[in-house]
Amino acid sequence: MIIISKMNNEVLLEIKGLHKEYENKKVLNNIDLEIHKGEVVVILGPSGCGKSTLLRCLNGLEPIQGGDIKLSGKSLTDKNVNWQEVRQKIGMVFQNYELFPHMTVIENILLGPTKVQKRDKNEVLEQAKQLLDRVGLLDRMDSYPRQLSGGQKQRIAIVRALCMNPEVMLFDEVTASLDPEMVREVLDVMLELAKQGMTMAIVTHEMNFAHAVADKIVFLDSGNICEVASPEEFFKNPKTERAQHFLNIFEY
Ligand SMILES: Nc1ncnc2c1ncn2[C@@H]1O[C@H](COP(=O)(O)OP(=O)(O)OP(=O)(O)O)[C@@H](O)[C@H]1O
Ligand SMILES: [Mg+2]
Repeated sequence: MIIISKMNNEVLLEIKGLHKEYENKKVLNNIDLEIHKGEVVVILGPSGCGKSTLLRCLNGLEPIQGGDIKLSGKSLTDKNVNWQEVRQKIGMVFQNYELFPHMTVIENILLGPTKVQKRDKNEVLEQAKQLLDRVGLLDRMDSYPRQLSGGQKQRIAIVRALCMNPEVMLFDEVTASLDPEMVREVLDVMLELAKQGMTMAIVTHEMNFAHAVADKIVFLDSGNICEVASPEEFFKNPKTERAQHFLNIFEY
């Protein structure tokens, strides 16, 4: 049987020797990481180890003090980098759905593609409807965020990011503030995206999900990459004591 990988060899994001400090406190230390096109990288690690900071560095929300980040071979540390352009290629969804409360679902989704990308409204509307349908929320197009559940809002936040046609999506604990019964519906959307070949970097505390979705697990501890492994290897046979201890806490 020939197994065709959904990944290809093209490196989409390349992180080399990344150093990040907050007020002289080292938060990320010499991070090397490659994310290939179509690859799903799940970043695990204890609270405060630097997971969110790493994602925030990737789309320029945090200045870095050393090393380099390249998107499709282009350095993001270059002084002339056009961040507005770069951020359109890197979609990000956070723990707290940041939908504009005074705008309907569809207005929230159309805003970036029409105002920032200056795309044709009807074309974007078609795409938005298809995406809303895929996440089961087409009928909530004209609702306001306050009329939606947490899980629904988070699925809308994902659609809003996808509608910009990003090359890679970053997810930072997108289910962390959801009630347990709503976690599944959001994770399913991300699993579906992974199947379709979306390149993703995901921070999560959902170990079953991490196991199922990841091509590669990156285990961070105190700002250092301790392990990079396939999910099979990592969950069955973590090499470092720190990772073993971490997994014990999750009783995984
Ligand atoms: N704006 C900031 N100013 C100063 N220190 C910060 C700032 N943001 C984060 N830190 C510190 O940097 C370290 C890494 O934080 P980060 O939020 O990246 O951790 P995390 O792995 O995402 O944790 P969690 O799992 O709790 O979300 C922590 O020690 C944190 O206190
Ligand atoms: Mg975090």
